[in-house]
Parts: sequence; C-alpha cells; structure tokens
Amino acid sequence: MNNKDTFYVTSPIFYPNAKPHMGHAYATLLCDVLTRFHRLVGMESYFLTGTDEHTEKIVKAAEAQSKKPGEYLEEMVTSFKSLYAKLNISYDQFIRTSDKDVHWPGAIEMWKRLAKSDDLYKSSYTGLYCIGCETFITEKELVDGLCPDHNMAPEEVTEENYFFRLSKYANQLKELISKDELKIIPKSRKNEILSLIKSGLHDVSFSRPKEKMTWGIPVPSDESQTMYIWVDALTNYVTGLGFGRGEEKMYFWPGVHVIGKDILRFHTAFWPAMLISAGLELPKTVFVHGMITSGGKKMSKTLGNIIDPQELINVYGADAVRYYLLRHVSSTEDGDITKELFREAYNANLANGLGNLVARVMKLAETYLSKPVTVQHSVLNKELESYLDKFEIQKAANHIWEKIGKLDAEIQETKPWESKDEKVIGDLVIKLAHIGHSLSSFMPDTSEKILTAIKENKMPEALFPRLLAPERSDGGQARKDGSTSSP
Ligand code: MSP
Repeated sequence: MNNKDTFYVTSPIFYPNAKPHMGHAYATLLCDVLTRFHRLVGMESYFLTGTDEHTEKIVKAAEAQSKKPGEYLEEMVTSFKSLYAKLNISYDQFIRTSDKDVHWPGAIEMWKRLAKSDDLYKSSYTGLYCIGCETFITEKELVDGLCPDHNMAPEEVTEENYFFRLSKYANQLKELISKDELKIIPKSRKNEILSLIKSGLHDVSFSRPKEKMTWGIPVPSDESQTMYIWVDALTNYVTGLGFGRGEEKMYFWPGVHVIGKDILRFHTAFWPAMLISAGLELPKTVFVHGMITSGGKKMSKTLGNIIDPQELINVYGADAVRYYLLRHVSSTEDGDITKELFREAYNANLANGLGNLVARVMKLAETYLSKPVTVQHSVLNKELESYLDKFEIQKAANHIWEKIGKLDAEIQETKPWESKDEKVIGDLVIKLAHIGHSLSSFMPDTSEKILTAIKENKMPEALFPRLLAPERSDGGQARKDGSTSSP
C-alpha cells in the first residue's frame, strides 16, 4: 500500500444522545484544519466523522421523548450535520454505526478476523458497568460510589461474554508505542498509556448478552450476544473506507485519529491490538487533545456554564468561533471558553487585529493603486507548514497573528498614506495576501474574502464588526457598529 500522497483523518464518532456541544465542535474542527491544510499542499485527503449509535443511552433518550430510536437518531444526526455545516466543516463522509450497508459488514468482518486469530473466548464475568463510559470500571476508579466522569452509579453485572485477549498484545504495544511506530502526540499521553500498559493489560469483554444490549450488532455465529459498543465503534475507522465491503477507499489507511484524552486507552491499546489481530496496519498517529471547560469547570446544565457552539456562531459567525477554538485553546491541554473571554478575543484580535488590518491595507490599495496587485500563486509558508506537520495547531495560529502584528507595525512605520508610494502599498498588499492564504485552513471564509478583495482591489465589508453591547440572550445578532478605524 502506497499512501504517502494521501492523508486520512478521523474524528471520534460521537454519541448522539444530546445535541452537539463545544467538545464535538472542537474535535471536528481540528480534523477540518488538518484536512484543509493537506488538501492545500496537494495531498489526496479524506476526513471521516460520524455517530456512535449503539448505546443504551440512545434508547433511553428516545424513550424519554416517546420516540423510536430510529426517529430520534435521524433528528440528532441532522443536528450534528447542521452544526458542521454552520462551522464550515469539510468532512468527506458522515458514518453512522447503525448503517447496515456501510458499517455492519466491516464490523462483522473484524469480529471474524479476531476469532480466526483465536483472540476471542467466552467467559463469565462480574463487574461494574458504567453506561456513561460504556465500559466496565473498577471499584478503585469510583468516587463515593459514582463514576467520576459521569456522576452516576455503575450497574453490577454478571454475564457470559466473549473476551478479547488484550493481555497477549501488551508487550508488542509497549514496544510499538515506545518506538513511535504508533505515534502518540503529545508525549504526556504517550507516557500515560505506556504506564497503563506497564501496570498490566487485562483481557476485555468484547460482547454483551443480547437481552442487556438489544440495540447493536449481533455477534456472528452467536445470536445470543451483541458486539461490545467500542469494538463496533472503533472499527468505523476502516469500515468508512470500505473494509468488509469492497475496500474501495482502503488505500487511505492507515490514517490519523484525533481524539480527546478521555478515550486514550481505547485508541492506543484496544484498537491497535484489534488491528494487529485482524492483520491490518496500525494508525499513523493518534493526536490527543484536551477538554474544553468554561470558567475552569466542565460544562454542565447544573452549573449553567454551557456555551452552545450554534449560538456563538449565530452571533459572531463561524470564523470567529473557529478562530477562538484554534488560537485560544491549547491543542493538547485543557482550554477555557466563556462569553467574556470570547468577546475579548473577538474585539482585540478579530475586530481590531485582523479586521482592522485588512481594512487599512485595502483602503490604501483602493485609494492609491491604479490596478489590482498580481499576487504570485502563494507558496505555503514553511514555518506554518512545519507547525501543522507536527499538529501544533495553536502555534500555527499564533504564527499567523504574529505576521498580522508585524504588518500592522510596518504600516505604522512607513505611513504610506503620506508617501502614497504605489510600490510600498503594493508590497503591503502582497503581505496581506500571504496572510489571507495562510488563513485558509483556519478561517476559510475570511481567507476567501481577503483574497477576493485583493483580486478586485476593493475594500471588503467589515470582516469582524466591533461589538458594542453584549450579545442578546435570545441568540440574536449583537449590535455591531460596522466601523473599522482608518489609517
Ligand atoms: N462514542 C465515543 C467515541 C468512539 S470513537 C470510535 C465517545 N463519544 S462522546 O460523544 O462521548 O465523546 C467523543 C469525543 O468528544 C471524545 O474525544 C471526547 O474527548 C470529546 N469531548 C467530549 N467533551 C469534550 C469537551 N468538553 N472538550 C473537548 N472534547 C470533549 O466517547
């Protein structure tokens, strides 16, 4: 398989038991930036996202609204897709694990391969199952009897399940991860999984009795069992490429997985072990991001600190939200968002920073240049490229804002409105074009508006109108004064 000219990236597939939140928007946005960037450098790219639907949480959420799971899921999937459309997420495929044509054949093929490698055996098991995590958890992990991530009590179950021989792969995984043959970014997460593996990997339950998991993919040749949701879910990364049904896009494999830190062990222990067992290549990279908090706390209805990405987009526009998440949230650590932080960043760096710069340069160009500046087909900025190659997305965004600051300072120093020198002004426009081009993976609409203004030698409308008053709580437009300061 030769895939050096291809780029494949996946987001986690999300549980669609509530409408999409900031965390979902963030993970998918990171994938989007990586995809757009790789397309720009000429690589054939493929971006897979979707929904993880075989969870009891869906059944319960549907019941609560007196709906059938299918009907409920349609609505939720529409709300995910509509958020992605609003946020300008350029995914190639939206996979749903309930899709019997697209996903099931590959999930079944995966199971058969694990069985063929003699990695599945039936055994009885007693444990504590957390439906929030969709995994068995240990007594040790509980806080006051509750799962600390979901604040709910796990259910004690005794079941006959199929087990996967994960323990068999412990040494091999340790080796592959230590040598970066399975590359985990950042290093702290690599160390975290290595120490987990060193502390001992146990075999894991890979199926549940059908009466407990009515909603899911039946285990081939044993209808009394349903595949464990994580086996089903992880396999989406290859079923989306046609694994088990013609392999049409399997030339993209292996790819890059973008995940949150809470699902590290599924992606860097379970999944690679499954791939080895099934005779498939390991992912190239697992990129692990942090959690988005609000006011330093996990967003929750009880705390009332939920920031809805849709509302934010309605008020400020997609590119402003993209900007905040990409530049003001660390790509690998937890990051915070509040309405106040967002407004501050918007006013300082979009209305005053980028927006003002574009207005200044284009006003000069429109006033003093007789014709549009011809910009050579922009070569990508090497520094930016090297950041993005290393998944240093926040650093890449900072780099662009450094250029914005420098260009602003240059205008201040050269005072071109005094000299009216066409050459000086033309140079400023070229520098602005480079900025516009660099922004294309991060803020695609803004990038296009800048490049169009340059091509037409015309001031664009204010890109980021300054905000005068806090946004209205009804989600309507905030008051914008529409002005930009002139040189
Ligand atoms: N369905 C599984 C993933 C299966 S992938 C084969 C799942 N779904 S989830 O909807 O609960 O979460 C999916 C992703 O969203 C995880 O990567 C998680 O880290 C991320 N986030 C959930 N809340 C988040 C924040 N507040 N901030 C950033 N990401 C967050 O787990």
